[in-house]
Amino acid sequence: LFICILSSQELLLWLNSKEIKMRINNSVFLIIIALVLGMVYSCEQTGKETDSPSTTKVSKEEGFAVLSQNCTTCHSPKEVNENPVAPNLRELQNSYFAGGAPSEDFVDNMTAFLLRPSTETAKMKDAVKKYGIMPNLGMSEAQYRAVATYLAEADLENPKWYEEVYLTEKENLENAVDTGAVDYLQKGKELALATKAVLGKNLLNAIQTKGTAEALSFCNERAIVLTDSMAAELNASIKRVSDNNRNPNNAANADELAYIQNAKKGLASGEQIKPLLQEINNHPVGYYPILTNQMCLQCHGKTDKIIQQATLEKINKLYPADKATGYGENELRGIWVVEMGKKE
Ligand code: HEC
Ligand code: HEC
Repeated sequence: LFICILSSQELLLWLNSKEIKMRINNSVFLIIIALVLGMVYSCEQTGKETDSPSTTKVSKEEGFAVLSQNCTTCHSPKEVNENPVAPNLRELQNSYFAGGAPSEDFVDNMTAFLLRPSTETAKMKDAVKKYGIMPNLGMSEAQYRAVATYLAEADLENPKWYEEVYLTEKENLENAVDTGAVDYLQKGKELALATKAVLGKNLLNAIQTKGTAEALSFCNERAIVLTDSMAAELNASIKRVSDNNRNPNNAANADELAYIQNAKKGLASGEQIKPLLQEINNHPVGYYPILTNQMCLQCHGKTDKIIQQATLEKINKLYPADKATGYGENELRGIWVVEMGKKE
């Protein structure tokens, strides 16, 4: 069981995307929210030297955009989230304000963590054990600062925050950026992250409670049903494929192989792999890289050294044609393929 705690860098979480389609169209809410936010803001300001609001470094909209597009995939904005894959937003806020930390420290500490998530610097040690360490999202410091500032100021204690503030701001954001076109590359990424998150959590749990050999069946994404509203709305389906697949059903086709080979070249020369959106049979298909971390090597590493005998025997029995061993850390294990917007 030594494995689990240190090494779950890539074990990710889940997408609470149900909120995406919910709408509050009542403009009265907007006004109430504006008032509530105004009050919160002025409360935050008391106790500091009064600053003119115009000196705030990053806009609230910017912070919210980062949050709703990149964080709530895993950190639920709701108070109660069933089947969590990471702490919810309020838990994050509480732990960064612990000990009465001032807002500036909140923002600095959170930004520092996001730039370089590590088991040592994480404040939420229990969460690290339960879900694995948060992945590095590879975003800019300015984006992290914006979202940290937003979280420092958000009134998450308010039990109606999700319904009244979050959903409204989300709608405002969508209206503001609505160009009429769906951003399929981004939506597909959210779906892939969500699936990966559920998968990762189940896998980590299984390894922790049953051991690696018994956990084998949990690396099977077919166990996950994408019932959430975003998948339904986008009419999306998702699969994982590889050039060195374990399950014969997961072999990459020619298009997918072309992407994988290109991505591997990029990775070898130190580039960051970019996802790709393709138009296939008149619908958008997104490719998203899946990289290995140390944790994966228990089942995908070198057969003579890293994978334990009992695990190897079981793999060979279940997958006689297995090609998915011999990997090191930070290699391209495969890709998510997210098909969206299918008619019929
Ligand atoms: C793919 C899932 C995932 C996404 C996306 C994600 N996180 Fe996390 N995050 C986690 C997990 C799991 C933890 C708990 C383990 C830990 O503390 O590292 C966590 C922990 C944290 C923590 C606490 C770190 C600590 O000190 O222990 C903060 C703060 C945080 N996330 C902020 C964010 C912000 C802000 C975003 C969006 C920019 C974000 N996260 C996006 C999974 C995610
Ligand atoms: C407990 C063992 C185990 C661990 C740990 C594990 N996997 Fe797997 N992996 C499997 C098994 C078994 C399959 C075949 C699943 C199926 O039948 O669809 C698989 C399949 C996959 C596939 C689909 C392509 C294929 O080869 O069939 C990808 C991609 C993948 N794993 C990536 C990862 C990554 C990335 C990690 C680490 C974050 C990881 N796995 C950790 C056992 C494991």
